[in-house]
Amino acid sequence: MPILAMAMQKGGVGKTTTTLAVGVELARMGRRVLLVDADPQSNLTMIAGYDPATISLSIADVLAEGPAHIHQAIIQTTYGVHLLPATLSLAGAEPILSGRIGRELLLRAALREVREQYDYILIDSPPNLGLFTLNVLAAADAVIVPLQAHVLAFKALPQLEQTIQLVRQLNPVIQIGGIIVTMVDKRTMVNQEVEDAARQQYGSLVFETVVPFTVRLVEAPAAAQPISVYAPDSTGAKAYLAIAQEVARRYG
Ligand SMILES: Nc1ncnc2c1ncn2[C@@H]1O[C@H](COP(=O)(O)OP(=O)(O)OP(=O)(O)O)[C@@H](O)[C@H]1O
Ligand SMILES: [Mg+2]
Repeated sequence: MPILAMAMQKGGVGKTTTTLAVGVELARMGRRVLLVDADPQSNLTMIAGYDPATISLSIADVLAEGPAHIHQAIIQTTYGVHLLPATLSLAGAEPILSGRIGRELLLRAALREVREQYDYILIDSPPNLGLFTLNVLAAADAVIVPLQAHVLAFKALPQLEQTIQLVRQLNPVIQIGGIIVTMVDKRTMVNQEVEDAARQQYGSLVFETVVPFTVRLVEAPAAAQPISVYAPDSTGAKAYLAIAQEVARRYG
């Protein structure tokens, strides 16, 4: 039962979209899945259909008040996955939590409470390297990197590798478990070059399936629905199903 973190120190590469889409597909395959929103932007919570303003107990409370609160904070969504939601108050919690001893290990301790109940825990992280990203990396067994098929995104990968190297002091097992090339537009040469370069440099770490750039994956979050519900026959839904199958093959 792996804990997988979606992480990349670059914004808008598909971390949140991938967390929800893969999580929902794994649930449809019969796996017990917990999604964790560790980003103060609360995007995962919103695209899963929840208004952060109406959430009474969130990840911020769990980190601040203690691991035992996680049981009450977890929501059973209508999409088969469970969700530990975030609210905008998470941003306000950062300076307070920063003064705590063991501040990087708060999420790890919280997930220990529930890890036996799930086959997969997928954590969505913020794009910056702050306290929450460190908590995510300290809690995860492996990092899945959504790599936007764009030259600049590729340049951010060594930076993430450096961060992972540092986090090994807290979490010796952490490693890059996979790279998912996202937002691929087959019509542009640059996209193909980035995919080729990733496969050349990172080999089998790169998922066979790539996620196409598709307008359905812009619309689905706006409709607060997973892609498999919003547009089940779309190329985006099919890609994420294939990626979930790859995740299941890689991690059992
Ligand atoms: N394959 C895709 N094709 C087209 N649009 C996409 C695709 N994947 C994601 N998007 C859109 O791109 C935007 C960014 O995606 P997403 O929120 O998943 O990225 P992120 O890495 O989580 O961003 P942040 O770093 O801000 O948390 C969203 O508007 C989403 O709808
Ligand atoms: Mg996000």
